[in-house]
Amino acid sequence: MDDRIVTSEELTEDHFDINIRPNSIDEYIGQTEVKDNLNIFMKAARLRGEVLDHVLLYGPPGLGKTTLAYIIANEMGGNIKTASGPSIEKQGDLAAILSTLEPGDILFIDEIHRMPRYIEEILYPAMEDFTLDIIVGNDASSRNIKIDLPPFTLVGATTRAGDLSDPLRDRFGIVLKLEFYNTEELTQIVHRTSRVLDSPIEKEAAIELAHRSRGTPRIANRLFKRVRDFALVMGDGVINKEITSLALDRLKVDKLGLDSTDYNLLKAIIERFNGGPVGIDALASSIGEERGTIEDVYEPYLLQNGLLKRTSRGRMVTDKAYEHLGIEKEK
Ligand SMILES: Nc1ncnc2c1ncn2[C@@H]1O[C@H](COP(=O)(O)OP(=O)(O)OP(=O)(O)O)[C@@H](O)[C@H]1O
Ligand SMILES: [Mg+2]
Repeated sequence: MDDRIVTSEELTEDHFDINIRPNSIDEYIGQTEVKDNLNIFMKAARLRGEVLDHVLLYGPPGLGKTTLAYIIANEMGGNIKTASGPSIEKQGDLAAILSTLEPGDILFIDEIHRMPRYIEEILYPAMEDFTLDIIVGNDASSRNIKIDLPPFTLVGATTRAGDLSDPLRDRFGIVLKLEFYNTEELTQIVHRTSRVLDSPIEKEAAIELAHRSRGTPRIANRLFKRVRDFALVMGDGVINKEITSLALDRLKVDKLGLDSTDYNLLKAIIERFNGGPVGIDALASSIGEERGTIEDVYEPYLLQNGLLKRTSRGRMVTDKAYEHLGIEKEK
């Protein structure tokens, strides 16, 4: 069985996600700074009777970028149209989406860093002047046409702001970075999920779950579902601390929320590369993971937690990693 808990995809949780996804900014827990600033920008835009400036959301998977995009649409009273970078294959695909926009709409483009540059260029005039600039026809008979677009807000989400081209990044008036959540915030999220799903959880159990969720709401919610199964089958349905610890141990989620891939990664650096530094490509092939998955999904939490360090010569594990894994450091 593949027991990894962290994935970059949203899997089949869409239905579950829709129910527990907060709809208003007041229900959105944590990310205080992002929320406070966004509230001001949204209020100001409403007072001026204008659309919100284009927003770029970035940060590791599962921290609430998509959720926030929907909240922006709700708060601004616009409809949301969604697309994702990799699914836009031709300039025409993007032009088609843009031409359906109505005044005040929110266009959400997920994984915006994965849109090819020649397609991205369509966005520049659209973002700047609300015009669609396209070439129609081919060769000799081709000509440029300009179509006016209604004022809209582009919300782009990416796990890698660094992969965005400069011209695209510069056209976002509002750039917001989402951070990992602390235990208190995750505990609140767990309690909220418990209320929405009508599955009671004890206080200590919620804290335990929060501790082991890698600072990530999506993981907290995913683990909540599994713990709830254990409570139903092995207990009386009430999620207490004992059943939570047991379930998470069984799911191989450790005290820091690390899963089997985190272990493979840290162990590989220690055992095969003598603790590092090791280049990301060598590391990726050594554990059979994609480089991008390591960079986007695994590494951010390990770095944040002080288990891994990035140096100019590559990745290194820290003393804390040796300690956490219970491996003696070779002198
Ligand atoms: N601040 C929050 N408060 C409460 N729940 C949240 C919050 N942020 C995210 N969630 C929950 O976490 C889940 C994942 O959030 P979301 O899908 O928005 O993440 P994401 O950043 O878009 O991830 P990805 O990069 O993988 O697309 C959602 O189902 C939502 O219910
Ligand atoms: Mg998302």
